[in-house]
Amino acid sequence: MKIDILTLFPGMFDGFLHESIIKRALERGQVEIQVHDIRAYSKDPHKKVDDYGYGGGQGMVLMPQPIFDAVEDLRTENSKVLLMTPQGKTYNQEIAYDLTQEKHLIIICGHYEGFDERIRTLADMEISIGDYVLTGGELASMVITDSVVRLLDGVIAKDSHIYDSFHNHLLDYPVYTKPVDFRGMKVPEVLLSGHHQKIEEWRLEEQMKRTKERRPDLLEKR
Ligand code: ADE
Repeated sequence: MKIDILTLFPGMFDGFLHESIIKRALERGQVEIQVHDIRAYSKDPHKKVDDYGYGGGQGMVLMPQPIFDAVEDLRTENSKVLLMTPQGKTYNQEIAYDLTQEKHLIIICGHYEGFDERIRTLADMEISIGDYVLTGGELASMVITDSVVRLLDGVIAKDSHIYDSFHNHLLDYPVYTKPVDFRGMKVPEVLLSGHHQKIEEWRLEEQMKRTKERRPDLLEKR
């Protein structure tokens, strides 16, 4: 999979692309990610990318020209263009799975003060990562990229994401490591038993219990 990210703040991606699982996936060639500075596409002599909104009220609004030029430069017949905006469809694990089927994602990071409405016509999908407003779409684009890349073949241990929270609309079961007794809090006996079937049964029970307590809305979807 290839992911092109269009942003006014490429520096925000430095840590994200150079640490942990994403770094490893890039090194192994399991994904190709390129971050593009929207400003580089500006045809303005001063590389301007935003201006005052017509009608007043708004602050600076991202202009359509640099975004249209960038998308038209990068887009192929296999591309899916995602626009990060709080007005988009609320993101979830199901959308993450759907996006793993794409060959090429182009992610446009929206601007804190707003973007010209005509930019919307470029997007195949508008995505919000939740009902709150960020200063820009950069963090949202990292959330999308991270959640999709970890699902790509070979990026994390095979099938380990079938136990993820939200897979099959269930939250994860509790996990423990050493020591068996930490300040009087003990690891459940069943996990020490070596009885695999009993462990599986216990885990599913815990998933059901936890989901019922914390996210009963998920159980309705099951
Ligand atoms: N840009 C600003 N807020 C956002 C949000 N909640 N989701 C996606 N993009 C955004």
